[in-house]
Amino acid sequence: ARTLGELGRRAGVRIGTAVDMSALAADAPYREKAATEFSSVTPENVMKWEAVEAVRGTYTWGPADDLVDFARDNHQLVRGHTLVWHSQLPGWLTSGSFTADELRDILHRHITDEVKHFKGHIWQWDVVNEAFNDDGTLRDSVWLRNLGPGYIADAFRWAHEADPKAELYINDYNIEGVNPKSTALLALVTELKAQHVPIDGVGVQGHLAVQYPAPHDIADNLARFDALGLDTAITEADVRMVMPADATKTEAQAEGYSVLLQGCLLTEHCTDFTVWGFTDKYSWVPNTFSGQGSANLLTEDYRPKPAYTALRQDLTLA
Ligand code: G3I
Repeated sequence: ARTLGELGRRAGVRIGTAVDMSALAADAPYREKAATEFSSVTPENVMKWEAVEAVRGTYTWGPADDLVDFARDNHQLVRGHTLVWHSQLPGWLTSGSFTADELRDILHRHITDEVKHFKGHIWQWDVVNEAFNDDGTLRDSVWLRNLGPGYIADAFRWAHEADPKAELYINDYNIEGVNPKSTALLALVTELKAQHVPIDGVGVQGHLAVQYPAPHDIADNLARFDALGLDTAITEADVRMVMPADATKTEAQAEGYSVLLQGCLLTEHCTDFTVWGFTDKYSWVPNTFSGQGSANLLTEDYRPKPAYTALRQDLTLA
């Protein structure tokens, strides 16, 4: 097999990437890799609320539609990202003053309109993103403050009504291993299942750093969700490092990617492993973590790093 996507097919997992739509439009080698190496894609930004409804009531679907078309042309599935989040909200929403009832209607309409727009074209939706704090409490947000914790179940019900065939995920970071955050999420999804809320899976983002130890118990953690009858996925894998990169850090990075992928491969219903970008040429990391970078599988000039080789080997042995 020539690509990660093909190797993944044999191992029973989709191998995906987040896609930066500006890079896709401007950079032919980027487009070529995105088209051939992966069997699913996630829009890095263009399906987020601030991108699709910057002006209230006026939708901008063009860039996201372009990604859906790209995926269709390249026989890829699409992970929709993301419907309910505390971040990247439109300014009219964050600076407006709305009653709780109005916010509930606004959220209901957003989910319904966006999911219906893409109906039939989205494999998995990240319905609710990053709802927890690291200590396992629910994150303070405009949604929790105004609608209470029931906003999570409502979001899944509304998304399911709008596209009954899409698989619906809750997604978060720092939930790779067994810890207070992943355990709180487990309690929530147990409750949602008991209430017959239409949730299909748990997305584990997988943003790691070589300077912190990678969790050793990813498969044990994912098994807890598997046992509930939920699918799982690694949705945003990358492994950053303090710059400059060197051979030791780059080998440690390969180990980090490998630990994430193996956690998925050891889990019966882990459906996909998605990297949050595939080249160091475009990455969110340096903008967020000053002095860090080199988090991806390929160099800035698209040469494979040890992490890329490690993933291929893991998939081959699976
Ligand atoms: O689109 C505007 C552009 O018009 C403007 O000129 C420019 C100036 O700053 O900003 C552009 O927006 C940027 C946007 O990405 C699109 O490129 C924002 O500044 C920038 O903050 C934003 O960053 C994104 C980040 O989410 C925002 O929280 C990253 O690209 C994206 O990789 C990152 O992705 C998140 C996942 O959605 C959720 N999990 C964590 C992950 C990493 O933070």
